[in-house]
Amino acid sequence: MLRTKIAGIGTYVPEKVVTNDDLTKVMDTSDEWIRERTGIEERHYGAKHQETTTTMGCKAAEQAIEKAGIQKDEIDFIIFATLSPDYYFPGCGVLLQRELGITKTEVGALDIRNQCSGFIYGLSVADQFIKSGMYKNVLLVGSEMHSMGLDYTTQGRNVTVIFGDGAGAVVLQPTKEENKGILTTHLHSDGTYAEKLAMINPGSHGGYHFNKMGEEIDFGYPDIELGGIFMTRRMLEAEMLYPNMEGQAVFKIAVQKFPEVIMEALQATGLSVKDIDMLIPHQANLRISQFVQKRLGLSDDQVWNNIQKYGNTTAASIPIALGEAHASGAIKEGDLICLAAFGSGFTWGSALIRW
Ligand code: ACO
Repeated sequence: MLRTKIAGIGTYVPEKVVTNDDLTKVMDTSDEWIRERTGIEERHYGAKHQETTTTMGCKAAEQAIEKAGIQKDEIDFIIFATLSPDYYFPGCGVLLQRELGITKTEVGALDIRNQCSGFIYGLSVADQFIKSGMYKNVLLVGSEMHSMGLDYTTQGRNVTVIFGDGAGAVVLQPTKEENKGILTTHLHSDGTYAEKLAMINPGSHGGYHFNKMGEEIDFGYPDIELGGIFMTRRMLEAEMLYPNMEGQAVFKIAVQKFPEVIMEALQATGLSVKDIDMLIPHQANLRISQFVQKRLGLSDDQVWNNIQKYGNTTAASIPIALGEAHASGAIKEGDLICLAAFGSGFTWGSALIRW
């Protein structure tokens, strides 16, 4: 039976460190507030006009390819997860292909727009392609350059202090080894909460729309009479181009869904919480991870947290944490690794991997 294994991991975090105190210079916030509510001490920002989501993803990808011991041209499918793409379209998948210098056109490139769950969604898609025998080397990248799209005024502080830049990548390959590789993946969504954590503009909604329940969702600028306009002067003037989050709603559902989806994966494989050697949760907020850890009764050395240093890097957070845990020796051959994520959409998911 074919399974999917992680053959190489790469990570890239830009050089520039932005501390909580640095943020207090531009907005009304404090180191104490940020640490207490989120656990974050600092984050990294990419070099403006020099780095992009794709260039950072490329650095992580090159490392992953090298660690997997393959050549770039052996990659036969690219999956790129991000919410902060270089362009509105085309997505970062093809830009990465170009940046890596892969010139063969047999390679497919897929962009994943599942925000914090993007890496797990990508992993699940890659797993199906590999198990079916369609591809032999899938490159999966999660990368975010949040720093270019945040509101650095006090108005945006609830979101801005949380996010950081970075990238992580894995090369996925088939294996016939017994009891190795991805054992199971589980994906979920509930669009009821789509606007609770969202960046509404630019978009085709034209200012407002009605959802299926007949509720009017008014974004406050119905100034368009003819056709849809993705971005209007009013959106710019009203600074309606930033992500928006109802933090408490996100928290409430996240702490339910993380344990649920982890238990679902364990039940599907006949395993239990005590079998988990390392839980690598999406680094949403340290308080969320601590809540999940407590709920599952896991010890500190069974959960990998690094949000303190990087903030929330969304689609990149799981591969960065996985790369870091692996490089530190905390993941050993035969270990059971659980990945879990929850985020905008809302979407959530989990994966169990036998290392
Ligand atoms: N600095 C100082 N004060 C702030 C900041 C800030 N950065 N942000 C908000 N505040 C203020 C608010 O204005 C509010 O002030 P008020 O009482 O005078 O009106 C007060 O702090 C409390 O605001 P809340 O939004 O209620 O703050 P809360 O205690 O809920 O904490 C937080 C906010 C940390 C976002 C919390 O809701 C949370 O952890 N939510 C989970 C969301 C999350 O982790 N998202 C991560 C990204 S999504 C994902 O990855 C799944």
